[in-house]
Amino acid sequence: VKAAVFASGTGSNFEAIIEADDLACDIALLVCNKPGAVVIDKAVKHGIPTLILDPKAYASKEDYEQKIVEKLHESGITWVFLAGYMRIVGKTLLHAFDRKIINIHPSLLPNFPGKDAIEQAYQAGAEQTGVTVHFIDEGIDTGPILAQESLTIYPDDTKETLQTRVQAIEHRLYPQVINQLVLKNL
Ligand code: GRF
Repeated sequence: VKAAVFASGTGSNFEAIIEADDLACDIALLVCNKPGAVVIDKAVKHGIPTLILDPKAYASKEDYEQKIVEKLHESGITWVFLAGYMRIVGKTLLHAFDRKIINIHPSLLPNFPGKDAIEQAYQAGAEQTGVTVHFIDEGIDTGPILAQESLTIYPDDTKETLQTRVQAIEHRLYPQVINQLVLKNL
């Protein structure tokens, strides 16, 4: 089974996925919309092919996504894992990969959707936050939830200590959910 990871940033989740023991699928492609993103170096280091497309080079979102769909089909990819892909997935990709695109988000959705979710929870003085893995739909961080794990925010937490603990959960949870989903144990 072949899968693609879509990521635009640092790629710590991308790395956690490709370094996971016994991953139930082959990460055959990194799709990135940000030329120069750190995650690209990580893919190159691990010998994973990259598709780097700047959306600004396309006349429309449909054209941009159609190009991605073509490449995914050419590579025989059947699953898409979003890991810090900072764009809203549109109809073209959603229809081509119906119920085959999942995302990881650093909060207990539906709380704190959108950008800077860890900071949002911290600033709100929440006592708990966590990580959610979910199917995507046309909304921002909406779509059926596959798995969630919570953690306590302690009074002496800083944004940094909180981020470290949230990321540790992400890096363990995402490969786990991917395996369950690909092997259809979910
Ligand atoms: C993660 O926190 C993920 O949950 C969110 O974007 C961040 C990506 O971080 N969707 P990284 O690039 O994987 O380090």
